[in-house]
Parts: sequence; structure tokens; C-alpha cells
Amino acid sequence: MDTRELEKLLLRIDGQGYGKYKQLKEKIIEYKGYTGKLTKVQGDPHAPPSIIEVNIPKPTHGLDYPLHKPRFYKPISDFATRILYSKTRKYTSKCGLGNSCTTTLPKPSPRMLYRSSATFGRDSLVLRFSIGLPAEGRRVNGVKAYKLLARTVPRIVNETLEALSEGETVWNHIKWYMLQEEVRDYLSENGYSFIIGAGAVLPRRAGFSQEPLENAVPFKPPPQLEKEVCVEHGCIRGMLVEDGVNIITGGAYHGKTTLLQAVQEGVYNHIPGDGRETVVSTADTMLVQAEDGRSVSCVDISILFQDLPDGRSSRCFNTMNASGSTSMASSISEALELGSKHILFDEDTSATNLLYKDEVMKKLIPEDPIKPLNENIRPLYEKHHISFTAITTASSTFLPHATLILKMKHYTPTKIENPNPEPLTSRVDGTHSLPRERVFLGVQGFRRVKYSKGKVLVEYEKRGVLEYPVGKNPRIIEESQVKFIVAAVRRAVKSWEGARMKNIAGLVGDNLEKRGFEYYADPVPPDLAEASGMDVVWVLNRLYGLNVKQA
Ligand SMILES: Nc1ncnc2c1ncn2[C@@H]1O[C@H](COP(=O)(O)OP(=O)(O)O)[C@@H](O)[C@H]1O
Ligand SMILES: [Mg+2]
Repeated sequence: MDTRELEKLLLRIDGQGYGKYKQLKEKIIEYKGYTGKLTKVQGDPHAPPSIIEVNIPKPTHGLDYPLHKPRFYKPISDFATRILYSKTRKYTSKCGLGNSCTTTLPKPSPRMLYRSSATFGRDSLVLRFSIGLPAEGRRVNGVKAYKLLARTVPRIVNETLEALSEGETVWNHIKWYMLQEEVRDYLSENGYSFIIGAGAVLPRRAGFSQEPLENAVPFKPPPQLEKEVCVEHGCIRGMLVEDGVNIITGGAYHGKTTLLQAVQEGVYNHIPGDGRETVVSTADTMLVQAEDGRSVSCVDISILFQDLPDGRSSRCFNTMNASGSTSMASSISEALELGSKHILFDEDTSATNLLYKDEVMKKLIPEDPIKPLNENIRPLYEKHHISFTAITTASSTFLPHATLILKMKHYTPTKIENPNPEPLTSRVDGTHSLPRERVFLGVQGFRRVKYSKGKVLVEYEKRGVLEYPVGKNPRIIEESQVKFIVAAVRRAVKSWEGARMKNIAGLVGDNLEKRGFEYYADPVPPDLAEASGMDVVWVLNRLYGLNVKQA
């Protein structure tokens, strides 16, 4: 229908019950050069707002990039979302009960992500955002609804298209994305774990903020490690760190944790101006921590544990309430099971007893089932090429095994030599194998999964509703990513039974690229952002009732 027919419809239902808006659902509205439709119509002015989906054919959007290639459409999606976000903010208003007349999108973080608010179908650009259909009391306000749908929506869309037609700014966004992607490929192909650009700004303004800290000390690479990596779309000059056992040490408050967090953040591409757009790590980089109380389902932790005192085998470790050391051993083993080749840990958030044991304690408690990491770390690197980047300050026991030691002082690293080259005698024979892989067999008693306030909620048949706080995973920062993870967990339970956990991690991204957000949600909401399949498995691994068998 054209906007005149839209006006007629809205005037006909004006003043009637709010539910009459349902008539708009899926009706195609013709604008100049594109169409729109409401894929979801709210039932009440206070309910979560309705969703408008705008379909813009190529002659109108005019974007001249190979739009079937993720390396183009992902940064354009991210860029378009940022513009769309600012336009929805510019034109949002409140004109009645609840969210009447609001136009909204969640604020994107500095990560460049593929987002459901801007996607491509064949050659057309699809924009999605939330709109609150206006209520007069609890009734339809047809006049305001007409203004919103016939005037405000095209204004938002036209201004977004205008910004997208400024080729140079879009290209700059794409270029930064490509640069980081290509450097990430370079790292994996050439035996490097990460690079931190000279001049990068690593600290954030506050713990809850993703904004760069003002007046921060810019990153300065130690001269021995300063290298330049050049790829098709540019160069990054900075501290280039080879695969190996990298130990970061230094006094408290000298910037160690900030550095490690930046390395973790380097699995994502960042927008220019973020400060971390020259920080790149291999995609499989995973920080592990102690997480007392987590659930573990048949994880092979035998690399780090001998059989447990109650006689249970460490090759299939189960618990609904892990200790510090078993939780961390499980998380490391799960990361290795997924094929991660770069593990990060910070002494501060680790189980110390899993990290190290000195000679005296070894004699005192020979029955301890823990095979501490300080004895394991070098064999893991030498035999399986697993790299580590870790912060340790309380004990020197990692130093003899390190291939690189960095000391942080005033937020600046220097490369130092090992002051104590005498290695401890090792209990580890070096012949151990990587954790056995597991096959996903569903979640026992699973009823449904949903998102609520940054958490993943799972409703079970008998257990009730359990909350999984994903905030503990530093790879997940945006609510839109949590929402995507929820949708992917739902998909995993429905369709991926029988797949190996490792393959599920791959299925998440492959399906997103091949089938789009439609594969995960119907209708597609405007607030999903891609997350790594590893993080979807991260959540699955923590679910009570996770059913697996070893392959
Ligand atoms: N390059 C920097 N410039 C200014 N402040 C920084 C820089 N790096 C970190 N900080 C700030 O210093 C404080 C301590 O950093 P942190 O990384 O936690 O230190 P550590 O882990 O060594 O104790 C934090 O408030 C952090 O934001
Ligand atoms: Mg710290």
C-alpha cells in the first residue's frame, strides 16, 4: 500500500482499541525508492516496541561493493548501524503512553560486528529498528501513527542512506575492518599470537565503559619486539609477539591486566578512534578464569588433573559445583577441545593451586591430584603448539618455561631476561594428549532459553528457571551479542544434537553467513549482533543438564 492507503487504514482504526494495530502486520508500505513493513506489532503501548523492516533495493542504496562477501557486508552492516542508531536517536520522541513514537536501537560498542539492524538480502539493504506505535490512552492514535510511519521512518532511512552514499567514510570503515582481518590472518599463518600497535590506547574510561581513557599513556613497544606487519589494506607497526609462553610481570597497578584484556579484545575488530584498532589477536584467543560453582559435563581435564580423591576419573569430569581449580582446569580443557591455540590467564582471577606448586609443597602433599600449569605449560606449547599469555607476579616458577618475559612499568612493557633459568623438576611426562572431544546430546529437562537483562535464562521442566551470567566472559560485552548467543543456544538445542562441541562453534558462524539472522530468529529483531561460536559453546558448556558423550 502507498502512504495514502496507509493513512486511510490508520484513520479508520483511529480511536479504536490498541490491538487494531495488528492489521498493519506484514503489510508492505511503499516509500519512495524502497518498502517497509512491520514484522512485529506490539499488543500494548507498554510492551516491547514494534519492529520495522525496510527493504532498500540496489538502485536506491547504490552501494557498489561485493555485498556477498562477509569482509564487505559485515563492516557496512556495522557502519550503517552506527548511522541508523544516531538517526533513531535524533528522531525519537515520546507522544503518549509507554513507548509511543519512540524510534530506537541499542548503542553499538566499539566492536565492528555484523548486526541484524543492517543486513543484505541478495542486493538489497535491509534496515531494522524498533518503533513504538502511538497510543492515545490505550487506543490507537491514527494521526500520530501516520506521522511516525509516513514521515519519521523515511526521514531516518533517507538520512541513513545519505550517510552511506559518502563513499570515503564507508570505505574508511571497511578498510580498517579489512586491515584487522588481514593482520589476524597474517598472525595465524606466520606463528604470531598478537600485535599491539605503537600508540594504541588500551585502558578504558571506567570498568563499565568501552570509551578510551582520556590522557592515557599510549602503548610503546619494547624495541626488540617492534615490527611492522603490512597486508593488502595497510600496515600495523607495534609489539609483535610470537607464539610461545609469554609471561607478563610487573608491580601492581602498572597496567598488566589492561594489557591482557586488550589482547583478549583483539579477537574483535574495532572502529577507528577506539584506541584498540591496531590491537589484533588470533581469533581463538581465550581468557580462562576460576569460576567456582560452575557446572561441568564430562570434560577431559586429565592434562591438569590426575584422578580425583573419590576415585572418579579425570578423563570425564562431571560436577554441578566446581571448585576454583577444577573450574579453571575445565575451562582450559574446553578451550583446547574447541581448538584454541592461545590461552590467556591472569593470576588475579585464577585458582593459584592450579597455577603453581613449589618444591616444599610438592613434598608435603604428594597426593595432590593437580598437575600444576607451571609444569605443564612448556610441554603444552612444545608438543601441541598451545601458546599462553599470562600474568604472574607472585611466583617465579613460570619464568624458566617462558619464551618471552615482559615487565610492565608505568603501563609500558620491557623485554627482560629470565633471572632464574633453573627449571623445576617436572612431573609431567610430556606425552599427554589433548582433551577428548565431546558430542552434544542436548540439555536435560530443557524447556526454553531467553534473554533478560544481560543474562541467559534457561527454563527447565523440573529445576525452574536458572540464570547464567555471561558477564563473566570477557569476550562478550554487548547485550546484542548476548541476545544472539541466546538465539544460537536455542538453535543448537533444536538442530545440532549429534554434532561435536567443536563443530557447533563453527556452525554458529557458518550458518549466520549462509542463512543470515533469519536462521536464528523469526521475525529478525533489530538488536542482534554476531558473537563467536566459541562463546555460544562457552554458554552451552556451563548449562546444568548439558548432555554429552565423548567422541
Ligand atoms: N596506558 C595507561 N595509561 C593510563 N592509565 C592506565 C594505562 N593502562 C592502565 N591504566 C590504568 O591503571 C590502572 C591499573 O591498571 P591494571 O591494568 O589493572 O594494573 P595491574 O593489573 O598491573 O595491577 C587502571 O585503572 C587502568 O585503567
Ligand atoms: Mg591486575
